[in-house]
Amino acid sequence: MAFISWSDSYKIGNAEIDRQHQNFFSLIAKFHTCALNPKCDAAPVLNEILEYAVFHFAYEESEMQRVSYKDFNGHASQHNSILAELKKLVKSPNLKSDMFEVLIIQWLMKHMMTEDKKLAAALQPTTASSKRTLNF
Ligand SMILES: [Fe+2]
Repeated sequence: MAFISWSDSYKIGNAEIDRQHQNFFSLIAKFHTCALNPKCDAAPVLNEILEYAVFHFAYEESEMQRVSYKDFNGHASQHNSILAELKKLVKSPNLKSDMFEVLIIQWLMKHMMTEDKKLAAALQPTTASSKRTLNF
């Protein structure tokens, strides 16, 4: 299947969140490469994707709390649904790599381009002065 890779057009205007989204795409690409190789064990890569999702959503939620984001509940509940689906998929014995990639990219794109974009706009006035970077 055609693989969707990161493009700068997916940037939402917050450097740290964009960097984390880009890492997400890299992990999905890693899974894609692994899934094409019969000798590669996909389980650790899937766990890495899951762990990164937990980390990334927690980061966004802490930023929302920092600025008392008005739609915290709506945004965080999308995170919870995505995580629940992701956990189900990762544990599915019938996991098909192409299906996984399509689903995760769809969630990611949809969420990034709507909720995360709104969040980036709300973080705008404060991000320039706070140079927060995380290495994960
Ligand atoms: Fe988000």
